[in-house]
Amino acid sequence: MNIIKRPRRLRVNETIRGLVRETRISVESLVYPLFVIEGENIKREITSLKGNYHFSVDKLEEEIKELMDLGIKSVILFGIPNEKDEVGCEAYHEHGIVQKAIKEIKSKFPDMYVITDVCMCEYTSHGHCGILTESGYVDNDKTLEYLGKIAVSHAEVGADMIAPSDMMDGRIGFIRDALDKAGYVNVPIMAYSAKYASAFYGPFREAADSAPSFGDRKSYQMDPANINEAIREVELDIEEGADIVMVKPALSYLDVIRKVKDSFNMPIAAYNVSGEYAMIRSCIDNGLLSENAIMESLISIKRAGADIIITYFAKDAARILRR
Ligand code: PBG
Repeated sequence: MNIIKRPRRLRVNETIRGLVRETRISVESLVYPLFVIEGENIKREITSLKGNYHFSVDKLEEEIKELMDLGIKSVILFGIPNEKDEVGCEAYHEHGIVQKAIKEIKSKFPDMYVITDVCMCEYTSHGHCGILTESGYVDNDKTLEYLGKIAVSHAEVGADMIAPSDMMDGRIGFIRDALDKAGYVNVPIMAYSAKYASAFYGPFREAADSAPSFGDRKSYQMDPANINEAIREVELDIEEGADIVMVKPALSYLDVIRKVKDSFNMPIAAYNVSGEYAMIRSCIDNGLLSENAIMESLISIKRAGADIIITYFAKDAARILRR
């Protein structure tokens, strides 16, 4: 007799589906991005990232309280300064926007884990992630000096973790050295290791006012076609001292996340970037997709091998997980 094999037995009801479920998201693995601006009493919705806001420092308390209540215990900070210049001075200034935000959060909520994005594009007048040569090329080794200063300035005011997103060569080793020399041996580095030159950063660049004023980022961020190169980048960052390695974006790069996961015994982060958020958000808002698309896409990132997910959906996910 030809017996029919019946995988559907394990799908009969939610209880059995729950028992055999292979991948779960927990709120502890989510990191929420926060955008901080100068000024007072400002909480303004970001048009390109509906449901996310620009906060002045004095308005952070309320937001962090909400995150804590939802069980979200870590944030990654992005600062938008009033003044930009050729070398991004505001990025490492003691009273720079991110430095003020870190102090505010850590003084009111010492348990909120504060990660900082270390990069120059929000702070430079030209919008590139480093210092330019006369011909407009981003000067790698000169940029390292600045990145080191920025990282130390974040640690000095209490950042828990440093996340360099600039894609310069040698930056992880350089920043590790700078942090250690300044006495911050216990501040870990989450490296944006395989960061692609992606069109999916569009809404973020609008939110952070960080689009390059000329050209693109292809001379430092990776070609979307490459995966072996991603492994080489990750390998270098691990050698240089990265504690966590990241793949970014997430959804168009699930194969890269999986390969990194299988190649290294390291915690892997994935950045579910602004364009990925905006696409799903607008489809949900327009009734084209159900809200289930949020967890389905986050689960796919987890299933691909990410331990940590940075996502603008963190608050939605936390609420859904509570139901
Ligand atoms: C800074 C930085 C970017 C993002 C995170 N850090 C923008 C970029 O590289 O142009 C993108 C995040 C997102 O799209 O959500 N270099």
